Amino acid sequence: MSTVATTRELLALHGGTPVRSTLLPYGRQSIDEDDIQGVLETLRSDWLTTGPKVGEFEEAFASFVGAKYAVAFSSGTAALHGAAFVAGIGPADEAITSPLTFAASANCVLYQGGTPIFADVEPHTLNIDPDRITAALTSRTKAIIPIDYAGHPADLDRILDIADRHNLIVIEDACHALGAEYRGKRVGSMAHMTVFSFHPVKHLTTGEGGMVTTNNPLYADKLRKFRNHGISSGARERQHHGQWHYEMVLLGYNYRLPDIACALGLSQLAKLPANLARRREIAAMYTSAFAGIDGIVVPATRPEANPAWHLYPIRVDPRLGITREEIFRALRAENIGVNVHYIPVHLHPYYRDRFGYRGGEFPVAESAFESLISLPMFHGMTNVDVVDVIRAVTLVLTSYSKRNANA
Ligand SMILES: Cc1ncc(COP(=O)(O)O)c(C=O)c1O
Repeated sequence: MSTVATTRELLALHGGTPVRSTLLPYGRQSIDEDDIQGVLETLRSDWLTTGPKVGEFEEAFASFVGAKYAVAFSSGTAALHGAAFVAGIGPADEAITSPLTFAASANCVLYQGGTPIFADVEPHTLNIDPDRITAALTSRTKAIIPIDYAGHPADLDRILDIADRHNLIVIEDACHALGAEYRGKRVGSMAHMTVFSFHPVKHLTTGEGGMVTTNNPLYADKLRKFRNHGISSGARERQHHGQWHYEMVLLGYNYRLPDIACALGLSQLAKLPANLARRREIAAMYTSAFAGIDGIVVPATRPEANPAWHLYPIRVDPRLGITREEIFRALRAENIGVNVHYIPVHLHPYYRDRFGYRGGEFPVAESAFESLISLPMFHGMTNVDVVDVIRAVTLVLTSYSKRNANA
């Protein structure tokens, strides 16, 4: 079962020269001089934490996504917690979410003492399946938390319709989907609350950071209090009005995003349209290159969606007889920094132990997980980087397919 015919085809895993001499990560930030200058200005100013940059960033962000309000948080996870609080999720309540996501999407329900209920995903977009949501509804359901997996918006029309009919709140986890569009509208303007993350692998970074957008003034007000200990006014506001008095009106946290981070966010936001365009270009290059390779399933795009491409997860058809682990190891050896998104949340030990999941409950998500590999996707990738990924994937798949054919 010789894998190769010529040295050029020899996989790095088997002693060949890697496609790249250094590792290409699956995601990374781009920071330029403007970003650095923006942060330096704030470092020289009077306000390091909640100062003028927070409000400026929130306003610019709300205007970009087309929402009335944006409330900054110290992380996407904190923002999800804030949204779960404002949705009124409590110990008697359930919230329905996708199993194919980062654990934070479900953990925010647990923070509030509620129970996350999973509904399986659609086989093509890997977003939560509205029919499965309907099947999971109970008299305890309080909210739906769809995830825009990889940056492709969930089926918002159907999800918002279910929510309307059952008086539920939709918290869209758009941590992958800043800049994505659904029927021509930007994600962040449609759900009752939409949550974003500014982790360095995302479209825009503040180091750590997050945001909730909403069109509801009461939600915005409660979110602002929740991120500041539940206090009715900010320190800067009090200084401005020459007052010392404040009251704590609800149990909140310190989930504030500092001015230093918001200065970076503002500068990054200015480049977001160009960065989104670049991500879309990279996705198009991948999709067209892999169209001709048997056994690679590229991410599906629905006609009503314009994804933001946080990730580019391919699936390898199990009929090829090549395991995900084989491809993963071979691509890593070629210095292509692939990753896997995600181990379904219910299969993590914490969820298994607490809720008794054993596997098999959400077959679409579980079987997708077995074959998913996220290829490098970040706006700073050069065309050479993209071509390296395409070459490595082609090399690895061809090599293993030949092995199987000759076996
Ligand atoms: C879908 C999803 N939700 C929530 C989060 C949490 O965001 P953060 O890392 O900013 O806390 C992430 C982070 O990667 C995510 O991918």
